[in-house]
Amino acid sequence: MSLYNLFQLRDAMNFAHLLALGVYLIAVCSGAPADSSNDEKQAKLWLVEYNKRASEIYYRDSVAAWNWSTNITDYNQNVSVHVSLESSKFTQMAAENASKFHWEDFNDEDVKRQFNMVTDLETSALDKSKLERLNNVQAELQKIYSSGEVCNIPGHGCLQMEPGLTALMAKSRNYDELVAGWKGWRNATGKQMKDLYAEFVELRNEGAKISGRYNDTADSWISSYESDTFETDLVELLDQLQPLYNELHTYVRSKLQEVYRDHKFPATGHIPAHLLGNMWSQTWDNILDIVQPFKNKTSVDVTSTLKEQVGKQLN
Ligand SMILES: *[C@@H]1O[C@H](CO)[C@@H](O)[C@H](O)[C@H]1NC(C)=O
Ligand SMILES: *[C@@H]1O[C@H](CO)[C@@H](O)[C@H](O)[C@H]1NC(C)=O
Ligand SMILES: *[C@@H]1O[C@H](CO)[C@@H](O)[C@H](O)[C@H]1NC(C)=O
Ligand SMILES: *[C@@H]1O[C@H](CO)[C@@H](O)[C@H](O)[C@H]1NC(C)=O
Ligand SMILES: *[C@@H]1O[C@H](CO)[C@@H](O)[C@H](O)[C@H]1NC(C)=O
Ligand SMILES: *[C@@H]1O[C@H](CO)[C@@H](O)[C@H](O)[C@H]1NC(C)=O
Ligand SMILES: *[C@@H]1O[C@H](CO)[C@@H](O)[C@H](O)[C@H]1NC(C)=O
Repeated sequence: MSLYNLFQLRDAMNFAHLLALGVYLIAVCSGAPADSSNDEKQAKLWLVEYNKRASEIYYRDSVAAWNWSTNITDYNQNVSVHVSLESSKFTQMAAENASKFHWEDFNDEDVKRQFNMVTDLETSALDKSKLERLNNVQAELQKIYSSGEVCNIPGHGCLQMEPGLTALMAKSRNYDELVAGWKGWRNATGKQMKDLYAEFVELRNEGAKISGRYNDTADSWISSYESDTFETDLVELLDQLQPLYNELHTYVRSKLQEVYRDHKFPATGHIPAHLLGNMWSQTWDNILDIVQPFKNKTSVDVTSTLKEQVGKQLN
């Protein structure tokens, strides 16, 4: 699993108490129930303005995060953490403002859905010091992850994840080298990340809970799929795929056994994780040269047929 999967920043949180407070204040101030169709009209105007500001602010946040990921310096970390805190402030304010509308009673499902998202605070629900801590913990984890070095692979000098270790895992067909890369990177990063990662999980779960909308971070991540049956759907899909997966796995293992003849594969039948062309055995396309059947067959190129068919549809 790559770091971006771990940090998947769609961490949903609600501000149920603020929302309740907002509705209460409007009722108190106006002294009468608001005209709901007018409320919805105003809400649509508010969304236009919100979208304009949000795209500027979140864009700046993404650029700062990009600057930091591609150029790991203390300065860039500090900028990224501070820009992210400013974004969180905006998220809080927007959620507060949005919850003054009676959006749960709106007729337009699309507008309702947008308000549901804008009032979802994600990690911004945490208080300022915890939020700052969370941002710093994330930045530290990323730093360890990206700058961890493996220096004990003969003939390779010191390798970091990018580009060295990624290329080694993809291209090397030397069993011992692959083991050294796989173990060495975990030795150089895993131990250092362990406690920080536990803290990261704790802070995120705390944020998710504050909302009242979610039990934990997993809950809030799953909510992005907007499906009540997400987990059972996935289990069903996995069950359907399992027979094919078993055959593929068996086939790939036999091909790898031909290449790594001198090495015993585990009796339990699993494929050693360092042989699949990727640090997390997550994608297998880098071992295509080993597993491709019918090597002298050209693959089917559907481009021209596709263009022809689409052309017919368009005419
Ligand atoms: C990102 O880096 C570029 C180039 O160094 C710089 O011009 C820009 O101001 C940085 N942006 C942010 C948000 O830090
Ligand atoms: C990396 O970031 C530093 C600021 O910490 C900046 O001075 C430098 O120009 C950046 N390097 C590149 C290649 O963008
Ligand atoms: C980090 O950035 C903030 C905001 O730009 C600034 O106030 C602070 O002095 C910086 N800290 C360091 C250590 O550079
Ligand atoms: C929230 O409302 C206040 C008061 O109308 C306004 O000043 C502020 O810009 C709004 N902020 C956001 C993020 O909507
Ligand atoms: C593991 O990492 C430590 C430093 O954290 C290093 O001293 C040691 O040599 C490494 N061991 C292996 C097997 O890479
Ligand atoms: C949260 O946990 C409670 C108690 O285990 C459970 O009843 C509820 O369905 C959970 N909520 C969500 C959104 O998963
Ligand atoms: C493809 O290559 C295999 C040997 O690798 C050979 O036995 C077979 O005849 C070839 N097939 C075609 C269609 O060229």
